[in-house]
Amino acid sequence: MEFYVSAGPGTEAVLRDELCELGFKSARLNSGGIPFTGKWEDGWRACLQTRIGQRVMVVLGRFAAPDLEGVYDSVAEVNWGEYLTPRHTFAVSAYAHESTRTNPNIVALKAKDAIVDQLRHEFGERPNVDRENPDVRVFVYWARQKATVYLDMSGEPLFKRGYRSLGGEAPLKETLAAAMLRLSGWDREMPLVDPMCGSGTLPIEAAMWAANIAPGLKRERFGFERWANFNDAAAERMRLLRGEMRRIAHGKLPRVTGFDIDDSALSAAEANAKAAGLRLSFRKMPLRELQPDNTRRMMVANPPYGIRLDADNALYQELGAAVQRLRGWRIAILAGSPRCVQCIKQTPVETYPLKNGAIDCRLMIYEP
Ligand SMILES: C[S@@+](CC[C@H](N)C(=O)[O-])C[C@H]1O[C@@H](n2cnc3c(N)ncnc32)[C@H](O)[C@@H]1O
Repeated sequence: MEFYVSAGPGTEAVLRDELCELGFKSARLNSGGIPFTGKWEDGWRACLQTRIGQRVMVVLGRFAAPDLEGVYDSVAEVNWGEYLTPRHTFAVSAYAHESTRTNPNIVALKAKDAIVDQLRHEFGERPNVDRENPDVRVFVYWARQKATVYLDMSGEPLFKRGYRSLGGEAPLKETLAAAMLRLSGWDREMPLVDPMCGSGTLPIEAAMWAANIAPGLKRERFGFERWANFNDAAAERMRLLRGEMRRIAHGKLPRVTGFDIDDSALSAAEANAKAAGLRLSFRKMPLRELQPDNTRRMMVANPPYGIRLDADNALYQELGAAVQRLRGWRIAILAGSPRCVQCIKQTPVETYPLKNGAIDCRLMIYEP
């Protein structure tokens, strides 16, 4: 089987590294996401284990499709009865390369017709479309006269780990936090500090990574667990796989600490860590009080951007001063504003362009 794990902009290389480390075969660098090959169970395992991937999709087929009728015929080649019956709901989305001069919604409609026609012919009834929470999500990619038909195995996007019920004011997506941690060069052993932890996403993702806790373990179910072919035998194999994931987690954690000035953010962080099964230390402290000691630490920070939060230059200046005084530390700051970068007078040792939602960011790494 061929799988494709989608990645946020700028996270492709670390996603490829993660998938290779997890033992997925032929994972290679590609813009937008990383393909790999394997058996069905490898797709399930990717849903459970990728921290950085946004969705895991399986390729059902690639077909010649010179025009819209070709797209219909391509989708009709798939045996849809394996995945859904009239009792299931489904949704189709599509990408159409600009050379097709076709609105992607029209492509999705055509694909939907092909699925409905096939199932009506087979069962005498058709399944309903549900855009919000479908059992089966189909994606059609149409470019260069070829249509590729994918099924989304994840269901809800993978940043929804199932441990965060409370967000702060501008919570990071868990998948972006995980990508940031890997890009930061953290060795998973150095004590880690997030001085502006908000709802705790970075400390929680760091601890889960360090303790080898599969990020998907708290998810009630993935998309593929709602498909027609996910029978009792498959459910038993998935139960065993979850058990295996629980066994490879270990309790060894470096010291992971989160600070913030906002009481409600700290309560959210505590509740979220507890829901993730972790005991982490969260405490009220302003950034200006963070002082160096004789220990080399990793600091990760996601300061407010001034777009979504009322950030001011004073805070960025405090951040600049912290980078100056935390000698011997390694520091990774997700800067979403040029003002933030300007206030830090040190030269970064590495920078990585990332996107936080629609905001262009830079992950700046310092070694003061
Ligand atoms: C963008 S949010 C962090 C979001 C967090 N990464 C999450 O996923 O929930 C920035 C945080 O910085 C905190 N903050 C603002 N000024 C601070 C200061 N001077 N010292 C410490 N924390 C501060 C805010 O309370 C807010 O929770």
